[in-house]
Amino acid sequence: MFFELGARERGGEKFADIILQRCVSYFRNLHLTALLEKRGYTVVNPYKVTQLCGNKLLTTLALTKAKIPTPKTYVAFTKESALEALDKMGYPAMLKPVVGSWGRLIIPLKDRETAGAVLEEREYMFPLYQVYYLQEMVKRPPRDIRVFVIGDEAVTGIYRYSFLDIKTNIARGGKAEPCRITPELQELSLKAAEAVGSGILGVDMMETDEGIVVHEINHTIEFQATATVTKVNIPKYIVGYLLRKARK
Ligand SMILES: Nc1ncnc2c1ncn2[C@@H]1O[C@H](COP(=O)(O)OP(=O)(O)O)[C@@H](O)[C@H]1O
Ligand SMILES: [Mg+2]
Repeated sequence: MFFELGARERGGEKFADIILQRCVSYFRNLHLTALLEKRGYTVVNPYKVTQLCGNKLLTTLALTKAKIPTPKTYVAFTKESALEALDKMGYPAMLKPVVGSWGRLIIPLKDRETAGAVLEEREYMFPLYQVYYLQEMVKRPPRDIRVFVIGDEAVTGIYRYSFLDIKTNIARGGKAEPCRITPELQELSLKAAEAVGSGILGVDMMETDEGIVVHEINHTIEFQATATVTKVNIPKYIVGYLLRKARK
């Protein structure tokens, strides 16, 4: 396919009532969604939700604005200021790219020496990787929690375990187990989904001594492991949500 920007759609015929965006490439997803919305289509998730969720800095801003507990985070734009921020926050800490998934290029920084070396390498990388998103290392069990929120329903949840890697992503070998959605998890995940504009979302949380914190909201949810271990028919909820939205 190709698109002529600014051109009017011929005949005004629509090929769909609603579009489910499933592209796992953030940038293709976002740009294609922008084009489709401009042509008058309702896309799930919408551009503004995808834009927020696909960027950890924008997500943190949305979460803190909605007063949702989230790990302490600093952002810096030079190696020197990043090291200063890390001195203030303390080690160990996590360095994350603002755009990225599957745990890629997320580095636990154990001490100042490691941080300096990693930040020096980043100076040779694409400018996106020189936006330094630095987060406190949360003391948590070797697992985190993902709640699948579809519209205004928290439909199911999993624990993701990883004993060898700090990153629990299923794509890196993390294991899924069903997680009962307690009233606390329900309230927090729905509030977090609302903070980024709602849609079909995966709200990631960690358990700390001071309660649960939300660290990420995923906008193109993968659910093979979850559907297997929870036996919840996630596609059925997705289709139900799309039908309700399309009828509006
Ligand atoms: N601040 C943190 N402290 C401890 N573990 C973290 C922290 N942030 C993320 N993790 C772990 O690292 C993994 C990937 O982090 P996440 O922010 O979800 O990035 P991605 O978008 O790549 O999945 C998650 O499994 C999460 O449990
Ligand atoms: Mg994640």
